[in-house]
Amino acid sequence: MDELTIPRPDDWHLHLRDGEALRSVVGHTAAVFGRAIVMPNLRPPVETVAQAEAYRARILEALPPGHAFEPLMTLYLTPRSSPEEIARAARSPHVHAVKLYPAGATTNADAGVADLGAIAPVLEAMQEHDLPLLVHGESIDPAVDVFDREAVFIERELGPLVERFVGLRVVFEHITTAEAVAFVRAAPPRVAATVTPQHLLLDRNALFEGGIRPHHYCLPVLKRRRHREALCEAVASGSPKFFLGTDSAPHERSTKLSACGCAGIFSAPVALPLYAEAFESIGALDRLEGFASRHGPAFYRLPVAEDTITLRRESWTVPQSYPFGEGTVVAMRADRPIAWRVVSTTE
Ligand code: DOR
Ligand code: ZN
Repeated sequence: MDELTIPRPDDWHLHLRDGEALRSVVGHTAAVFGRAIVMPNLRPPVETVAQAEAYRARILEALPPGHAFEPLMTLYLTPRSSPEEIARAARSPHVHAVKLYPAGATTNADAGVADLGAIAPVLEAMQEHDLPLLVHGESIDPAVDVFDREAVFIERELGPLVERFVGLRVVFEHITTAEAVAFVRAAPPRVAATVTPQHLLLDRNALFEGGIRPHHYCLPVLKRRRHREALCEAVASGSPKFFLGTDSAPHERSTKLSACGCAGIFSAPVALPLYAEAFESIGALDRLEGFASRHGPAFYRLPVAEDTITLRRESWTVPQSYPFGEGTVVAMRADRPIAWRVVSTTE
């Protein structure tokens, strides 16, 4: 198979930033993806429906002309979040989910929630209004090894949460471990997961390949090979519980190349070709369509796109960097070849 045409995919986990940075990156996503679940970890965080509506308007305003891209907004859960705001979110046609960051777990997560017990009324309201919870699943206990944070979070937090809120729909975001795959598989259909291109293609060796590689640093951090293989098996199975979420997270180049570099891999311009590479490498190219274009809409109860996109097996070299506000951002696979290219889209 040298060419693959699929319904236009969506990105179910994306960081678009704000201001000039937003203007620099949104076109990369809109050129390929029809919709994206937009993460709310701005400074200050997107906590209210009013803030989400205003952010959505800025995204639409920043879109290059000619793109029919739909940003699907999310709210940022904080200890101050209220059931009333959840009810408002459920009434909004533009807010599609609420994001849980354990406090301090990652970039701009300091406003997040340290004690899940304390937000039970809000989770109950989400359950009642059928608004999905998107989870950054890492333990924030400083005693837990960074490579174990996801597995520990499942045991201590996510497992009990899914059991307690029996009607709550949950997306376990950017899963990275065999434990997460097993958890999602065993959970009821209301529990799903997104998988990034980096966690399908790279293991933790990529962080130290001939020297330290800050552009491969993201959270949750890359794991051992056996975990990567478990993720590959999960997406190759064709299970509707696993769908595309790039977690494309641009940071200006100098903030990555620093004594304390930021977490985040920018993949928007290369994501779909990278997923195609990953699926092909496991002999599952025929499963890409479900993962990229069908399972996400089914979970979020949205229609599958009517237009299509075509990928061709044709090698190209990723630019060394892309403009990003006043500076630049380095994409995944920068300056190296990718085997697939997006060649056409239809309206
Ligand atoms: O690597 C990451 N970067 N992980 C996250 O959870 C947040 C993201 C960001 O916003 O930069
Ligand atoms: Zn993210």
